[in-house]
Amino acid sequence: MNDAPHSLTSTDPERTVEFEFVRATENAALNSLQWFGRGDKELADAAACDAIYGVFDLVDIAGEVVIGEGIKDNAPGIFLGEQLGTWRQGSARFDIALDPIDGTTNIAGGMPNAISVMAASERLAGEDRAMKNIPSFYSAKLAYGPEVVHAITSGMDPLSLDEPPHQLLAKVAKALGKRVNDVVVVTLNRPRHADFIRAVREAGASLRLITDGDITAAVSPSLADSGVDLFYGIGGSPEGILTAAAMKALGGEMLLRMWPRDQAERTALLKLVGAHELDRIFTSSDLVHGNSALFCATGISDSPLLPGVRLFGNKAVTHSVLMRERSRTVRYIRAVHDLRHKTIHLRSKRAESRLQS
Ligand code: FBP
Repeated sequence: MNDAPHSLTSTDPERTVEFEFVRATENAALNSLQWFGRGDKELADAAACDAIYGVFDLVDIAGEVVIGEGIKDNAPGIFLGEQLGTWRQGSARFDIALDPIDGTTNIAGGMPNAISVMAASERLAGEDRAMKNIPSFYSAKLAYGPEVVHAITSGMDPLSLDEPPHQLLAKVAKALGKRVNDVVVVTLNRPRHADFIRAVREAGASLRLITDGDITAAVSPSLADSGVDLFYGIGGSPEGILTAAAMKALGGEMLLRMWPRDQAERTALLKLVGAHELDRIFTSSDLVHGNSALFCATGISDSPLLPGVRLFGNKAVTHSVLMRERSRTVRYIRAVHDLRHKTIHLRSKRAESRLQS
């Protein structure tokens, strides 16, 4: 018999390398924890990057960073165009998106909602890049879960980034079989969201304001037990691509449109991408359009997506999630690390190193 779907064949390289992505976000979480609550987000970010580089220095893939970080605040980062993996001949080619820490301010302040997160998509020979680079600093994003997607495919009017919040909330409530008053919305607490915040409250829905970290917030409506029904907010564009990879594995959806901060950025973007792209509303599949997508994250501090790292004596417990579009398997991985034995491979030392406390 040779009629197995591609997802079940042993030639699917994602099935073997996916756990290396988890190792990378686990190590990033563990290595950055030494900076938790110590007021220095850049040192935390640098420690996470060092650990991610260190893991991929030993992994036989040909990975290219197509969505990197660093544009936000010139923080240390793993940047667009960098190569991850050994690039040994014959290695599978992956496009990689990553945010070694989403919520650097949170980790520096010892606050919840910091994760380490990566997404990848295999790029087959001759194919264009698998993830779209959105060049604006910010994008407007609206994310909802599989039940709302199902209601839309069954005939409900689609949600739109442009409709008034009371209308959005009515649709979400209908799709979920709830009253608007029971709909829970999450957004970043920013002045630019003042109108949205007011309108959600006037409509009677319940609002959760977060300080930072909009990937966990945007993914949460797609998780059955998060208690969140809808995410809206203007936040980092790279974070939007990472969210899109998770949406594809979870069956949720996110709509995204670039949000220039001022006329100067709008003019620069118009030159770069043209009016059609600048005003276009992208779906998750427009943003991650390769033949597959995997998403993985490890909690640093507690978030709706994952518990943070727990330390018990000589043990550290990490919580990660690993999901793939092809199989739609969502794995929650709880790992117990014995710190007397645990080493992680760091790029800076080019060697296995013990964790710093
Ligand atoms: P960093 O971890 O890079 O600081 O990003 C945190 C974050 O809250 C993102 O999750 C979000 O997309 C973005 O910052 C919002 O940007 P800003 O803080 O400028 O409003």
